[in-house]
Formats: sequence, structure tokens, C-alpha cells
Amino acid sequence: MKGLLLAGGHGTRLRPLTFSGNKHMIPIANQPMLFYGLQHLRDAGVTETAVILGPIKEGIEEQVGDGSRFGLRVTYVPQAEPRGLAHAVLCAREFLADDPFLMYLGDNLLEHGARPFADRFGAGDARGVVGVVPVKEPSHYGVAELDANDRIVSVEEKPPAPRSNLALVGVYLFDPTIHDIIARLTPSRRGELEITDAIRALHQETGQVRVIRLDGWWKDTGRPEDLLEANERVLASRARNLFRIQGQIDPHASVSGPIELGEGSTIGAGTGVRGPVAIGKDVHLEDGAFLGPYTSVGDHSVIRKAEVDRSILMEGVEIDARIRIVDSIVGRGANLSSRTHPPSGQSFIIGDACKIVL
Ligand code: G1P
Repeated sequence: MKGLLLAGGHGTRLRPLTFSGNKHMIPIANQPMLFYGLQHLRDAGVTETAVILGPIKEGIEEQVGDGSRFGLRVTYVPQAEPRGLAHAVLCAREFLADDPFLMYLGDNLLEHGARPFADRFGAGDARGVVGVVPVKEPSHYGVAELDANDRIVSVEEKPPAPRSNLALVGVYLFDPTIHDIIARLTPSRRGELEITDAIRALHQETGQVRVIRLDGWWKDTGRPEDLLEANERVLASRARNLFRIQGQIDPHASVSGPIELGEGSTIGAGTGVRGPVAIGKDVHLEDGAFLGPYTSVGDHSVIRKAEVDRSILMEGVEIDARIRIVDSIVGRGANLSSRTHPPSGQSFIIGDACKIVL
């Protein structure tokens, strides 16, 4: 079984974070989102995977390399234009050859990874395996309608009037039958070759698309609030023994709950941290700073005076102000400080498409 990890797409709903980089490299609990996908593919038994790259691919090849640090062999396949998920399969046709493949959308996070798909495929009666999770707003996703035996009745992409509340998650397993079907697809109303259309045709032509109901959480990280929720869920469900303290905690700091503290980092006297929190390398908490639960702080950051709750601070962030920051995402190298001289008033240098709630 091969892997197909999709990391193209423009991430327009995540602007401004995606102006300067690929959305799949945004950190969740201090690890680029894409790395979870690579780990899930490997844990499901994949040894060789293609990574589909769009035009905005900064940092991916540099950080993932040949994949050996994940125990994988990685090949990169370009997808010049975002013409749909089934189009990505078409781009990787040569790499996939006639092997079954586990397809994983790089912006999806699943609590229990992709193993259940491989296990279901292993039963030997499937040409496709899809996973469903009940959701509140099914019209944002592919939707599956099932009969009493969990067999597919219909599958539709983002239907305005959904026939069930079961969303198709962004992980699929196919045998090579799918390639002929994709070769015959025509673009949808939004101009894309939809994987959901291919799944429907595969079901109609073979009756061998199997559905698994996934327990555990699932998150499609399309919008900024999804990133915060994913960060919270990853930290909340991470095993306690995976939180390692490699930096220094001052005896006069107040610390509770699980905390990851990278090498060279310090939690200074009079500061506090309430976990679960992930703090990278060479991060310094000083001057009464406080980090609340579900916060991640990237390498080389400094936080003074501020309280930060349920937020993602990326690498090299500097905060030096008596403010409380909640539910926020702060990009690489951003700086937030308070004035030490008149005039009073708040001063901003805000990039395109930023969002500030005061
Ligand atoms: C894609 C699929 C959709 C699926 C979703 C899961 O949507 O087209 O069927 O439910 O991923 O994340 P997209 O996120 O590309 O809009």
C-alpha cells in the first residue's frame, strides 16, 4: 500500500497566515500539521508516499526531505493548479502505479490516525474505504447517506440540503479501480475534479466502497478557529509521558498540569504555566508572564508580563505587554509590546487580511 499526502491548496481562508507559507506547515502543538499526516500514514503501514505540492510549498521539501526521519520514502509530485482532490490522484498516477493507496488530506487531523482504514481494507472485500463522523454542519463537507447496514445510499459533495449528518473525513483508501473512474470525471460546479464524485461512481460500478464510522475526534483545519481547536485537541489527548521537560523551571514559578518544555527554555521566577501547554526550544517566560491551558509557543520566543490562553504562538514571537491574549494565533517573528514613552494610544503595523479583536 502506497501513501498519497495532499499538501497543495492555497489556504485562502487562513490568510494572513498563508500569505507567507504553506498552510500545512502551520504548527499544531509545535509540530507542522503535515507531520501528523506523515506519521499517520507510516503508522497505518505505508512505507512509500507521494506528497502533492501546489505553488505555495515553502519549507515542505526542506523539512520533510526524503522522509527518512518519519520512516518513509517520500516523492514529491507537483499539482500546478488546485483542480481538485481527484485531480491530485491523476497527477500521481505514475507514482501510484497499480498499488492500493491510502490518500490523506494534509489539513485533516484524526485522533486515531489512518490505521482503521488499512484494517478495513485488509478484510479483502473493498475497492474503496471511506470514513464518516457525525457533524453539526454537514453542508461544509462531503456527506454520506447510509442504510441500516452502513452501506452507502448516496454521497454528495457539500450538498445545500444534506441527507444525513455524516461527513466524509479527508482520508480514503482505494485500489487501482479508481484510476479509470477518475479518468472519466468531469469538473464539478466549482470547477474541480471531486473525489466525492469518484467515490460515488466507484460505489455505483462495483458496490465495493466500505464505510467506517470513526470514533475519536476529527478536525479539518480550514479556518483559524479550527487551528485553535486542533491545537487544543492534540494537547488534550496527548499522553502525559510525551510531555518532556528539558528546560529550566525556577523554584519560584507556579507550574501545574502537563507541560512540554524544550531545551534551553526557561520558566522564570514569578511566572506561571498551567498545562497542557507545549513550549519549544529557547523560549523564555519572564516578568510575571503566564501561559494558560491549550497554548503552544514556538522556538526562540520571549513572553514578558502577558497572560496567554488557548493560543498558538509561532517561532520567534516576542510579547512584552500587560495584556491577556486569548484564542489567538500569532505568526512567526511577530512582536507585541507596550509603549514606554508618550504619546499614548495603540500603534499597529498590521499586514494584509489580519484580524484584530480588541
Ligand atoms: C474535502 C472533500 C470533502 C471532505 C473534506 C474533509 O473538502 O472534498 O468531501 O469532507 O475535504 O476535510 P475541502 O476541505 O477540500 O473543501
